[in-house]
Amino acid sequence: MFWKKKTAEDYIEKKQYQKAIALYKEKLQDQPKNTALLMNIADALLMDKQLDQAIREYKKIAAIQAEQGFILKAIAVYKKILKIQPGNTEVEHLLNNLSERMTITEETSPIDKVKMPALKEPEELNLEIENKLLKDLSPDEFKQVVAKLNLRHFEEGMVVVKEGDPGDSLFIVVRGEVRVLTHTPMKKEVFLANLGEGEFFGEIALLTGKPRTATVIANATSELLELTKSDYEKIIERYPNVKKVVQEFHVQRTYKTVEAMIQAAQDKG
Ligand code: CMP
Repeated sequence: MFWKKKTAEDYIEKKQYQKAIALYKEKLQDQPKNTALLMNIADALLMDKQLDQAIREYKKIAAIQAEQGFILKAIAVYKKILKIQPGNTEVEHLLNNLSERMTITEETSPIDKVKMPALKEPEELNLEIENKLLKDLSPDEFKQVVAKLNLRHFEEGMVVVKEGDPGDSLFIVVRGEVRVLTHTPMKKEVFLANLGEGEFFGEIALLTGKPRTATVIANATSELLELTKSDYEKIIERYPNVKKVVQEFHVQRTYKTVEAMIQAAQDKG
């Protein structure tokens, strides 16, 4: 008979949070700045109702992420703390200061301007820079947009937006991953894409005023920053470049979706 060693996730499922935390901490010894592990610990502390300790961990995570240049991720974590503890002035202050850490130069975009430590892997850098939606904003503009973003949390398997539903916001993935799928007229499911950290979705309904063209489901525990249509409109009034980026995605994705649907219909034989 085999005896399978329990994982931290097994303990979480059984609500034995202290045991899960102990396992995460063991792993953390080899990689003390692993923010995914730190996040697991903070989440487990929160589930265990150890609010102050959880907040302390979240603050630590946001500080590491900001130091590493993952500004959107750090913003999401600060917003999370403010959801747990509204009016935490220290965190409000930290959040407010985040975009001011960018230094201004002529040629590069605000997110490129974030001072990156030398130890960073090249593909890691892409995460924030990849956020095409915000990369052309100046630090001041960025700060205004950030103030309007609403943090949303989704567990694996939860539906973020549903095909056919009305929609008036777009989402930026800051943690986790989502999958996008649609259906042929014969109701056959068609996979369109996985969208990871730094990518956004929901722009089509927002731009066209029509229902959601696809269903988006969390592939893992995910944190998304949501921008409502009215806030989006305020932003593009002042920063038309944002609109250009969003429109480009709309066109590209609509085209890809049509292609995928045709392919699915042909696969059917
Ligand atoms: P919207 O139609 O508002 O809601 C579903 C979203 O899924 C849609 O906006 C796009 O952001 C996204 N989407 C649709 N088609 C694709 C695709 N082919 N690839 C990636 N994302 C897509």
